[in-house]
Amino acid sequence: MGLPMDLAFYEVTQTLVPSWEQLENLARRSGPPDALVLVHYFGFPNDLAGADSFCRRVGAILIEDCAHLLPGASALGTLGSFAIFSPWKVLATPMLGVLTGAKEYERFIAAPPLHRAVGATARWYAKRLAQRALIGLQFNWYARASFSTKRLGSSWAAAAHAAVWWYERALATVESVARQRIQNYQYLASKLAGASGKFFLDALPLNVIPYAFPYLLSASVSQGVRKLRQKGIPCSTWPELPQQVKSDPKARVARDFADRLVLLPIHQNVKPRQVHEMAEIVRQTLSHEQRGA
Ligand SMILES: Cc1ncc(COP(=O)(O)O)c(C=O)c1O
Repeated sequence: MGLPMDLAFYEVTQTLVPSWEQLENLARRSGPPDALVLVHYFGFPNDLAGADSFCRRVGAILIEDCAHLLPGASALGTLGSFAIFSPWKVLATPMLGVLTGAKEYERFIAAPPLHRAVGATARWYAKRLAQRALIGLQFNWYARASFSTKRLGSSWAAAAHAAVWWYERALATVESVARQRIQNYQYLASKLAGASGKFFLDALPLNVIPYAFPYLLSASVSQGVRKLRQKGIPCSTWPELPQQVKSDPKARVARDFADRLVLLPIHQNVKPRQVHEMAEIVRQTLSHEQRGA
């Protein structure tokens, strides 16, 4: 990663909670960490009480990874010393990240550089307009064979700076976005109950605003995902695992999630009729897939 730090990956349980016992052992063996990153996967709160107690015991700061959370919609992201949000994943904003920190750490947070910011934001807006027009013409934007993301280095942070206006504008929509996402999730859950996959958690806990619909299949997901995309469903899978995790025999749960989890879209702009159609397509495509697996 090129950063002046040592990274250690920790094991997680079937509900993606850190394996505290393994972390304690790791801290005993290799020395206590300076920081622990706790991920609130798919908008579901992770074990904050466990993280707080671990961090206090070993003297580490807690960083909450809130990339999957709807910013401004809950108190998540305020317990740790720092929290990192990715508003562009859930709201209509250009690619930007938001770093929040406890007051005592304010002096460590630098403003991002401004150069190239306007260009990056303008490109995002032009792409959204083109995408909206093509989708309006029934063009299957998601059927393209592969997705690739180009890292823009420092302009990543710069784009965030220029996008603040968009971000603040999008924050005003948080309430209706939350309502729509919950509704889409619950509808999909009711339609997929009894289908071949398994939900990440059986019910959507109160106050959870889902990032996506995490659906765990009983067989590898890759073929099914390709077919769903060809049918116009912009579903995704777990991102590529770091080599260190891939080759660690103990990282069984992470590899299993990478292999079998599909994230179905429950975005606020997906209409009830479309959620209904998506559920039908998923049932047909994936049950077929699993039988053939
Ligand atoms: C849990 C989690 N944290 C952090 C990130 C990185 O977010 P970004 O792409 O906004 O840098 C991702 C990206 O998918 C993620 O899934």
